[in-house]
Amino acid sequence: MSINMDVITDISVALGKILYYFLESLLYKIIPKTKKNVAGEIVLITGAGSGLGRQLAIHFARLGAILVLWDINQEGNTETCSLAKENGGEKVFPYTCDCSNRQEVYRVADQVRKEVGDVTILINNAGIATGKFFLDIPDHMVEKSFLVNAISHFWTCKAFLPAMIKANHGHLVCISSIAGVCGINGLSDYSASKFAAFGFAESLFFELTMVKKTEVKTTIVCPHFINTGMFEGCTSKYPFLLPILEQEYVAKKIVNAILEEQVYLMMPKFLYIILILKQIISPKMLMALGEYLGVDTCMVSFKGRKKANELQTETEGKHQ
Ligand SMILES: NC(=O)c1ccc[n+]([C@@H]2O[C@H](COP(=O)([O-])OP(=O)(O)OC[C@H]3O[C@@H](n4cnc5c(N)ncnc54)[C@H](O)[C@@H]3O)[C@@H](O)[C@H]2O)c1
Repeated sequence: MSINMDVITDISVALGKILYYFLESLLYKIIPKTKKNVAGEIVLITGAGSGLGRQLAIHFARLGAILVLWDINQEGNTETCSLAKENGGEKVFPYTCDCSNRQEVYRVADQVRKEVGDVTILINNAGIATGKFFLDIPDHMVEKSFLVNAISHFWTCKAFLPAMIKANHGHLVCISSIAGVCGINGLSDYSASKFAAFGFAESLFFELTMVKKTEVKTTIVCPHFINTGMFEGCTSKYPFLLPILEQEYVAKKIVNAILEEQVYLMMPKFLYIILILKQIISPKMLMALGEYLGVDTCMVSFKGRKKANELQTETEGKHQ
């Protein structure tokens, strides 16, 4: 029997690389990576007007970054701008922008390029949650969830990625969710849009690696519920396993993941176990685990965040 040398070479190279990267990741678990310096980097945060976006703005202001803050909520964004300045931000530029509107994203992106410069760290954070069971979700809110939580990422990346690729320097950050890796009842539109955001960011990461733009980094963030108000009323049956996370803590972890150029960040760590279990146990066992953790009932008292939802402009049937 003749042995195809090409096959043996391919397998050896693949195994060698897998072993190398496995040992490298083990090493980084013991010796933390050196953190990159973001002073002077142009950081754009969508959904900066409250919650996580606001906390991220404060952190990056302290690190000496130039901040570009986008939100549909002008009032909230202006407040974040003041807080960023109070926390050492010398150059902070707020823009009112509805990320779900393609034309508006491209128009405001042009303005940012002219007035501030090329964005080097793009944090796709803006998000909405309808908070209704599937058959009760109005059609336009299904569309809105996808437009804000996922499709807007296509427009912002189209606007700012070319300059990052040209310079082979930049960082794309996708704020997905635990609902972007596990379906959650009562969150079908939100969860599906967060899976989409995750899939888009991960695909782009592989695409950038393939074309050797390895200095354009990617970070994908999947947190459990955070106390920002977005999921007001949601509870955790066993907080020691799945706690409702503090927004300051989550922001700190995200900034750290960006500085260490981590590709994935799941919070809390217990989520990694759920992900592994999801691949190997039966769906009934997964449901039993969900019931035990109270995931099946955590949405019962959730009513959705009205403010952000009300501010959405009417785009149903208008986007192309
Ligand atoms: N809160 C949680 O439990 C939780 C958990 C996992 C992931 N996340 C994700 O984290 C991100 C931040 O959420 P948060 O908890 O800070 O909620 P939040 O409601 O406090 O912040 C979301 C921000 O996005 C803005 N926004 C909404 N629609 C917009 C639009 N069309 N254009 C521009 N801005 C818009 C809102 O005005 C708001 O300031 C979201 O993507 C959310 O899905 C939140």
